[in-house]
Amino acid sequence: MSTILAIESSCDEMSVAILRNEKELLANVVASQIDIHKQYGGVVPEIASRKHVECVSAVLREALRQANITPQDIDAIAVTKGPGLVGSLHVGMQEAKTLALALNVPLIGVHHIAGHIYANNLENTIHYPALALVVSGGHTELVYMRDEFQFEVIGTTFDDAIGEAYDKVGRVLHLPYPGGPVLDKMAHEGEVTYDLPRPLDDGSYNFSFSGLKSAVINLKHNADQRHEEIRGNDLAASFQEVAMDTISSKAIKAARDLGVKEIIVAGGVSANKGLREKMANSEIPAIFPPMKYCTDNAAMIAAAGSVMYRHKMFSSLDISVKPDFDL
Ligand code: KG4
Ligand code: ZN
Repeated sequence: MSTILAIESSCDEMSVAILRNEKELLANVVASQIDIHKQYGGVVPEIASRKHVECVSAVLREALRQANITPQDIDAIAVTKGPGLVGSLHVGMQEAKTLALALNVPLIGVHHIAGHIYANNLENTIHYPALALVVSGGHTELVYMRDEFQFEVIGTTFDDAIGEAYDKVGRVLHLPYPGGPVLDKMAHEGEVTYDLPRPLDDGSYNFSFSGLKSAVINLKHNADQRHEEIRGNDLAASFQEVAMDTISSKAIKAARDLGVKEIIVAGGVSANKGLREKMANSEIPAIFPPMKYCTDNAAMIAAAGSVMYRHKMFSSLDISVKPDFDL
């Protein structure tokens, strides 16, 4: 039995969730700052951390109200330790330490990506061995999981993360931030008519998206110089086709090579419809988190934190955030 309160504040969302017995989500409050950062075309770290300081208490109070529990019902405090923006992480960490100290319960420092992966354990149950395909704004990784909470990174990106490539292409096409969801929608209204380069398949499980991203940027630049119009929806469809075909075929090949039971898709880009369609063709079942848990939220940190609680993977109250750290 466990009741875990979790805080996620690694980027521009401040979120508090309360999860009972690993599956029963009592609250998941997310305060997004996207409308503020949109004006700047990306997240401004200094603004993000200041806004977190302003809203953390209200988000916490609302989560406790929704869950209808008292602080004494809480068995542990889970918090994102990293990776992420240092100032943003500090706000959640400080709040978590204060709560753990005041309630005299363990603190659990959670890796943000472990959270994204365990978002799949909220409404489903992960079967091991599994392969996690992590696709977010900061990560593109293939992670072999022999068993619960065992992570072995077998492939990563040499340059841009896939979400980052989407957002950079979005910016060049003057789309609102973040470009990922907008391009996904446009792709479904367009056709694959632009011939874009496929990343070279070197037989490894690693990825590279800078060539594809640059090809789209150059295409737009050349069209602008010639005063020609770009067919935006077709360009989005062509970009999505190459990006998602590369990702899904590598993931399916790795899953086959490793003989896993499931492919667990995780991270903000797991919301992508093109990726969901491609992975539906996999002979090894591919599990996606429900849409509401794809992008950053504290329910996923509570899901990972609950498993860590069962394994007594507690942190000292002296820990600091780790803006850059491996799974
Ligand atoms: O996991 P997340 O919320 O934050 C990080 O940990 O990075 O992921 C955010 C990323 C952004 O780059 C956003 O553009 C991308 O996920 N994203 C998408 C879609 N929804 C969100 N990319 C492609 N298609 C989508 N539907
Ligand atoms: Zn994330």
